[in-house]
Amino acid sequence: MNLLILNGSPRPEGHTKRMAEALRAGAENAGHTVRAVDVCRLAIHGCRACEACHRTDAARCVQRDGMDEIYPLLAETDMLVLASPMYYHGFSGQMKCVIDRFYAALYPKERKPARLRYAALLLASGAPAMYDGALFSYEGDFLGYLGLENLGVFTCAGETVSAELLHRIRLFGASLPQ
Ligand SMILES: Cc1cc2nc3c(=O)[nH]c(=O)nc-3n(C[C@H](O)[C@H](O)[C@H](O)COP(=O)(O)O)c2cc1C
Repeated sequence: MNLLILNGSPRPEGHTKRMAEALRAGAENAGHTVRAVDVCRLAIHGCRACEACHRTDAARCVQRDGMDEIYPLLAETDMLVLASPMYYHGFSGQMKCVIDRFYAALYPKERKPARLRYAALLLASGAPAMYDGALFSYEGDFLGYLGLENLGVFTCAGETVSAELLHRIRLFGASLPQ
C-alpha cells in the first residue's frame, strides 16, 4: 500500500525523524510505497478559517504554500502516519498547522479520499507518559471522526532512541497489511 509519513520535527536527525525512517525502511522492505514529507521544510501556514474551501466542491485551500505538496498525496494514500515531537503537551506547531489545514481536504469527513483507511502515530518527547494531548487529537480526529483504523502508536521519551524501539518500528513497517 501507499504510506504518507508526515514528520513534524524540525531536527533533521531528531528522534521523530529516526522513528519515521525506521518505519519507512521496514515498509519499503516489505514492498510498500512510502512518501515521507518533512513538514518543517515546507513553511506551512495556519488555517485562516475563511471557509473558502467549503464554499465549493473543489476542496481547495486559498493559501498557496507547502500544503500544495501534501494535498495531492492524500488521494493516493492508504495509510497516514503522523510523526511529531511533543511540544507543550501537543503536536509541534508545524504539525498542528498541517492538521488544521486538513480542514480543506478531510472535513467534512465525506471529503476523505476513499483509499485512506489506516493511520499510525510516532511521538517523541523529553518526559515519559505525556502523550495525552497528541493522542486526544489522533484518536478524536483521525480514528473517531475520519474512521481510520489505528495500526500502531510508538513513543520515544528521553535523550536517546533505543535500537530496540527502532527495531520494533521496522518490524511494524514490515508487517503492515499489503
Ligand atoms: C518547544 C518545545 C516544547 C517541548 N515541550 C515538551 C513537553 O511538553 N513535554 C516533553 O516531554 N518534552 C517536550 N519537549 C522536548 C521534545 O519533545 C523532545 O526533545 C523530543 O525528543 C524532540 O523530538 P525530535 O528529537 O524529533 O526533535 C519540548 C521541546 C521543545 C523544543
